[in-house]
Amino acid sequence: MRIDVITLFPEFIDSCAGIGVVGRAQERGLLQVTTCNPRDFATDNHRTVDGRPFGGGPGMLMTIGPLRDAIESVKSATAQSARVVYLSPQGARLTQEKVLEFARMDRLILLCGRYEGVDERVLEKLVDEEVSIGDYVLSGGELAAAVVIDAVGRLQDGALNDAQSAEQDSFTDGLLDCPHYTRPVSDALGDVPEILMSGDHAMIRRWRRKQALGRSWLRRPDLLARVSLDDEARALLDE
Ligand code: ADE
Repeated sequence: MRIDVITLFPEFIDSCAGIGVVGRAQERGLLQVTTCNPRDFATDNHRTVDGRPFGGGPGMLMTIGPLRDAIESVKSATAQSARVVYLSPQGARLTQEKVLEFARMDRLILLCGRYEGVDERVLEKLVDEEVSIGDYVLSGGELAAAVVIDAVGRLQDGALNDAQSAEQDSFTDGLLDCPHYTRPVSDALGDVPEILMSGDHAMIRRWRRKQALGRSWLRRPDLLARVSLDDEARALLDE
């Protein structure tokens, strides 16, 4: 998969995308992250990419020209079509479902805003969708783009060493993850639940599911309300 990031701060994306699982996915050739700076498409001596909002108001907006040229240049880099995603607090909330959808694509273009945002006509005509990573305002889309790259990159086939760990992720089945334990069995902080050392895989699976359901019920009842529970899940919640 190839992810192009259009950003005034390419060094930010470069520093994030080279680390950990995403860095390894790039080394293994499973993911390619490239950046494109709209400032390189500015036409004046000052390399201006912003302008005052018509009608007044605080701050500056990113202007159409450099963004349009950056998007066109990135789109034409390969023959495959690519969805253009603008990161903004006005977007639809990023979910694991959306991450899985992005991860299945060959290409993705992430557009990062700075200042007070971008000229609305860019969003109307050049952007396919807007995505937010939460109900708070960041000073630019780069952190949000890094979140998308990480979440999407780790899902590329072969990126994770243990293929099962993506299947066990929180949210993959619509619920939170169960608790996990490792050595030592006994510690001043507490003991590992005995069932996990019983070797009874059917019981362990059931215990984990019950924990995941219980946690979701306590911490994120909104998640539970959205998933359709099978008979076992209903029985586990009633226990
Ligand atoms: N840019 C600024 N704030 C943002 C947010 N919450 N999500 C995505 N992009 C943003």
